[in-house]
Amino acid sequence: MSDFQAWMAGHQERVEAALSNALPLTSHAPTRLHDAMRYAVLGGGKRVRPLLAFAAGELTQADPARVEQAAIAVELIHAYSLVHDDMPAMDNDVLRRGKPTVHVEFDEATALLVGDALQSLAFEILAQPGLVENAAAQVRMLNSLASASGSHGMAGGQAIDLASVGKPLEMPELEFMHILKTGALIRASVTLGALCGKALDATAMGKLDHYSKCVGLAFQVVDDVLDAEASTATLGKTAGKDAAQNKPTYVSLLGLTRAKDLAEELRTDAHDALLGFGPEAERLKQLADYIINRDF
Ligand code: IPE
Ligand code: IPE
Ligand code: MG
Ligand code: MG
Ligand code: MG
Repeated sequence: MSDFQAWMAGHQERVEAALSNALPLTSHAPTRLHDAMRYAVLGGGKRVRPLLAFAAGELTQADPARVEQAAIAVELIHAYSLVHDDMPAMDNDVLRRGKPTVHVEFDEATALLVGDALQSLAFEILAQPGLVENAAAQVRMLNSLASASGSHGMAGGQAIDLASVGKPLEMPELEFMHILKTGALIRASVTLGALCGKALDATAMGKLDHYSKCVGLAFQVVDDVLDAEASTATLGKTAGKDAAQNKPTYVSLLGLTRAKDLAEELRTDAHDALLGFGPEAERLKQLADYIINRDF
């Protein structure tokens, strides 16, 4: 196992434990909702957003115990977005992280409420008193996560995605959709992780932000490629859904080869954005490589 793989596995384990600790117990009422919340969040997922938060925290010498809380807040928003994304009114998917989706395993009303409750829990965690020493930084973190989740972020991107089914989008519109639906939350993961530590100057923050924009867009480009190329068994979610549902994607617009080339260009841009930082940016570089080269 490489040093990076060991770092990743260790942090994934830490995230799993922190999420389990933060989620309500199944023995507490309302038990069915709590059971479904734990089902949606635990025991699956690559935890890429928390990993990005930890890597950004390393850049600013943040206390990992604080980063952990910010990291799970983002992951809870992400998990909620997946539960709703899979519902019949959206992508109508039956498989997620190798298990039946929440509305299949439970029911639609429960899936809606799971999303609602996970979103609230994320902000409850991020708003806990004293999470970071600097209260102004904590307010910025809350602000970042809220705007990345809302109509100018993930929810807005999802709205464009649904409104675009069957319509051939031009490149700028497709890029806008991807930046919102996936990029915004990835960008917020990096911002939140960094804000847990020492303040960066405006130039450094700008570079970090450029890195996270490249990685956020690349993440969805690769998701589109994998949807077209990988198997359901490898992905743990139904492969080939984008074409079947006539979704505009980077693959439908550019074809597989050019979509992969674009992901590679974004990887290079992300690396370049980190030039000027020292070895403390190594994990962020490695994560960019992982996000572009992953096979699920
Ligand atoms: C899938 O996200 C949905 C997108 C935003 C593309 P991930 O690929 O991060 O899913 P998990 O968390 O690993 O299951
Ligand atoms: C979903 O994009 C992005 C979210 C905000 C959840 P997709 O619909 O492509 O995600 P998958 O492929 O179902 O994971
Ligand atoms: Mg979708
Ligand atoms: Mg989907
Ligand atoms: Mg997809």
